[in-house]
Amino acid sequence: MSTATRAKELQSQVRRMVKERRALMLAHNYQRDEIQEIADIGGDSLALAQKAAQTDAEVILFCGVHFMAESAAILSPQKTVLLPMLEAGCPMADMITAEKLREKKAELGPDVPIVTYVNSSAEVKAESDICCTSANAVAVVNSLEADRVFMTPDMNLAKYVQRHTAKKIEWWKGFCPTHHLLRAETIIDLKSKYPEARVVAHPECTPDILDLADHVCSTSGMYAYAKTENARRFIIATESGILYRLRKENPDKEFIIATEEMICPNMKVTTLEDVYDALVDMKEVITVPENIRVKAKQALDRMLAIPRD
Ligand code: 13P
Ligand code: SF4
Repeated sequence: MSTATRAKELQSQVRRMVKERRALMLAHNYQRDEIQEIADIGGDSLALAQKAAQTDAEVILFCGVHFMAESAAILSPQKTVLLPMLEAGCPMADMITAEKLREKKAELGPDVPIVTYVNSSAEVKAESDICCTSANAVAVVNSLEADRVFMTPDMNLAKYVQRHTAKKIEWWKGFCPTHHLLRAETIIDLKSKYPEARVVAHPECTPDILDLADHVCSTSGMYAYAKTENARRFIIATESGILYRLRKENPDKEFIIATEEMICPNMKVTTLEDVYDALVDMKEVITVPENIRVKAKQALDRMLAIPRD
């Protein structure tokens, strides 16, 4: 049997199991193409958190990384949240712990609110005033009364927000190793090769990359921009999983990934086989201790009450 035929067969088996388990299959925009293709909903971290909070499905099958499934479990504790591969983590989320954040809070004092990127553990969220995603970070920060704000764990997102707010932003020095692979010289070279192309970058990229971008947005923001922007060619500065839907939804446009190296190993660890096994064996079930969950939910709920940028 060819690989393509096997993949199609597995896709049908997964869909059959999704129905049998009365599950909602969510897939992040960086997942493998064949997983995105059959998900009920694909999206960025914010859209997926919103869907997880709203659904009345009994089972949420999360094709993404651990913090995403954990957010679903925080928001919907009565549902069974499955993450096919437990090792699908996020190195940036691991760059801060609840203990380190408590120490930082003691240093900052009570008047500096903590804004935590959803790419973080439940314990870290529980220590935070409000969460944010790349789609709403500016709006979240501007919604706060304080003039001084501390953002964690992504310093690049914090630096991006600093450019769009009058508040003083301080930050934890975390970063995404995948987005840090991209060098400004690579974008400069691509721009000189394709001068008419639009450069679209994720705010996890370093500030020198964002300086070169025509548009900075979340992964789902990239779909919206590609659709509405009157250009034929786009240079994309984020993880390569984004290309699947960009190309599918815009067959007449060209999308060039800034560098082929931008592959998040954690986002790619989950295969169709793993998704199928997860539904058959109902694993891995993601849960959060109730004392942590309740506090983390407050930070997520405050974020969800704020409209997207
Ligand atoms: P989005 O919320 O923009 O999809 O980003 C998630 C992520 O992990 C980016 O690296
Ligand atoms: Fe984490 Fe970066 Fe992977 Fe996103 S792309 S999940 S921030 S390591």
